[in-house]
Amino acid sequence: MLETDDALAGTISISANTDEDGVTRRLFTLDVGTEYRRRGFATKLIKEVESRVLSDGHSALRLEVSVDNHIATSLYEKLGYQPVGTPEKLQ
Ligand SMILES: CC(C)(COP(=O)(O)OP(=O)(O)OC[C@H]1O[C@@H](n2cnc3c(N)ncnc32)[C@H](O)[C@@H]1OP(=O)(O)O)[C@@H](O)C(=O)NCCC(=O)NCCS
Repeated sequence: MLETDDALAGTISISANTDEDGVTRRLFTLDVGTEYRRRGFATKLIKEVESRVLSDGHSALRLEVSVDNHIATSLYEKLGYQPVGTPEKLQ
C-alpha cells in the first residue's frame, strides 16, 4: 500500500509463494487511485517490491497484463519487463 496525506493512493501485491522454479514471484493487483495517477506512484510501488523481493534471494518477478492495457504495458516496458509467452484470449 502507498499512502499519501493519510489517504490510500495505491496498492500492489506479491505472491506469498514462488513459482515452481523456486525463484520467481508474481506481482498482481497493481492499482493507483485515479486522482493519484501519473505522479510516479506505480513506479514507486514496483521499485519498492523489486528492492525487497530481489534482495531477498529471488531472481525474478513476473506479472500478467492485458495486451489492451496500453498504460500498464507502457509502464512495465519502461521498467524493463519483457514479454514472454503468447497472449491468450480469455473466454
Ligand atoms: C497502470 C497504473 C497502475 C499506472 O499508475 P501511475 O501511478 O499513474 O503510473 P506512473 O505515474 O508510475 O507512470 C509510469 C509510466 O506509466 C505509463 N503511463 C502512466 N499513465 C499513463 C497514461 N495515462 N497514458 C499513457 N501512459 C501512461 C507511462 O509510461 C509512465 O511514464 P511517464 O510518466 O514517464 O510517461 C494506473 O493507471 C492504474 O491503476 N490503472 C488501473 C489498474 C491497472 O490497469 N493496473 C495494472 C494491471 S496489470
